[in-house]
Amino acid sequence: MSQKVIYLLRLLICIAGVPTVFTLECYECNNPTNCVSPSVIQCDQSAANRTRDELKLYFLNVPDIISSNYMCLRTNSTQSNGRTANIHGCIYDETKACNLTLNTAGSHWSKSSCFYCSTDLCNSAPNIADYSSAVAIITLSVASLLLTNVPGC
Ligand SMILES: *[C@@H]1O[C@H](CO)[C@@H](O)[C@H](O)[C@H]1NC(C)=O
Ligand SMILES: *[C@@H]1O[C@H](CO)[C@@H](O)[C@H](O)[C@H]1NC(C)=O
Ligand SMILES: *[C@@H]1O[C@H](CO)[C@@H](O)[C@H](O)[C@H]1NC(C)=O
Repeated sequence: MSQKVIYLLRLLICIAGVPTVFTLECYECNNPTNCVSPSVIQCDQSAANRTRDELKLYFLNVPDIISSNYMCLRTNSTQSNGRTANIHGCIYDETKACNLTLNTAGSHWSKSSCFYCSTDLCNSAPNIADYSSAVAIITLSVASLLLTNVPGC
């Protein structure tokens, strides 16, 4: 094999290892208006705390636990009066956000959707799929730029 091929193979192996180095990224928004184009955030304690505080506005008994494992959450529930709990963000895996009970005081809620997942930007709305893959490509390019400067990688 030529030196060039070997170099490319090593680079590919390096890039394949990248996702374990970076922290989880999730979409974040807290109402139907800003969830049209949510921001992209890195999961950390303050991001997970923000989502927890949003959840507390709509759900009962949201736990104050902290863990070092994060997931991306996407939940959307609508009250009969039109009030909507539309939350995307980072959560602690132990929060079990989709099993929380909605605060039904005063009005009825319909839980229309809720899921969590643990790959980068997996909690997107369907209409921002293009944006999500663009971000993934940019992330990968930046990662390969960084790695080519790492000796021995
Ligand atoms: C997150 O919330 C926990 C529990 O309320 C608190 O102890 C911790 O300091 C908060 N962390 C950040 C970074 O805000
Ligand atoms: C949230 O649910 C409402 C009511 O079902 C729906 O109109 C809206 O499109 C949903 N939003 C998202 C981001 O799924
Ligand atoms: C949510 O609750 C259901 C039913 O009680 C249970 O089977 C499931 O394991 C729970 N999921 C999580 C993530 O806690």
